[in-house]
Amino acid sequence: MRISIRDIQKMQADHEPIVMITAYDATSARLSEAAGVPMLLVGDSLGMVVQGHEYPIQVTLEHILYHAAIVTRVTTKPLIVGDMPFMTYTVSPEQALTNAARLMQESGVGAVKMEGGEHLAPTIQRLVQVGIPVMGHIGLMPQSVYKVGGLRVQGRDLETAQQLIRDAQTLEAAGAFAIVLEAVPAPLAKLITERLHIPTIGIGAGVHCSGQVQVFHDLLGLFGEFTPRHARRYADLGQIVQDAISTYAADVRARRFPDDDHSFAMKDEILAALNINTSPTNDMPLEGNEKHDAGD
Ligand code: KIV
Repeated sequence: MRISIRDIQKMQADHEPIVMITAYDATSARLSEAAGVPMLLVGDSLGMVVQGHEYPIQVTLEHILYHAAIVTRVTTKPLIVGDMPFMTYTVSPEQALTNAARLMQESGVGAVKMEGGEHLAPTIQRLVQVGIPVMGHIGLMPQSVYKVGGLRVQGRDLETAQQLIRDAQTLEAAGAFAIVLEAVPAPLAKLITERLHIPTIGIGAGVHCSGQVQVFHDLLGLFGEFTPRHARRYADLGQIVQDAISTYAADVRARRFPDDDHSFAMKDEILAALNINTSPTNDMPLEGNEKHDAGD
């Protein structure tokens, strides 16, 4: 049985910090599940880390459907949250309903996430009414990057801080089961967390949120030189992978790869029938060789 939104809310009630990470493919999903992460987000950050765009604007519902179906296919335990891409939920509550229903039915996610404050309340109400769990997302909303003029911290002045508090409370009243707070000053995120009954999931919002979410590639050092200020690099896999590929390329160029251990032999009588001289590769035992699935 997968983790449910109730389980996530129970973690908050038990003061157990909630861990969430993005996943976009079979590898990231399997590794995150194996590490015991209870909630995976198929985020539109895939526009940047998978598709190579600067912002998530070009990500479509079809893209999220494709990636979310992979993540749900290869996992059994975590709650999978699917991001609603730019312009797939803001035209009207009915548009949001149709697209969120597709996300649940066609990819198997257990909840959807959408960016926006107070104005999204009727949409969230409508979705929750028909059984679609919604995670809100306020603060820095990358889908609004062109309106805001960049990816910047939100809620630093009194007016915007008060607006964020109102947004969070309105989303909770509309039925959101949790809210992502992105790039919000830590004291404000703490205040919002204290005022809400549902969990807050922070990214660049300090340690007092009910949980944290991070982008898989940022945590593992897989996303070029740039690491956002809110992300800690827990590994430098990018460099490790690049070094491994360079070594592979050098081995190919020097004919050090493949060696006998990574090649397949033939029976001597067949070699003889084909007039092939026995090669060093054929000195190895056939049985050991056949253990490999040659895929032939
Ligand atoms: O798309 C995403 O990965 C997100 C997280 C950064 C919260 O929205």
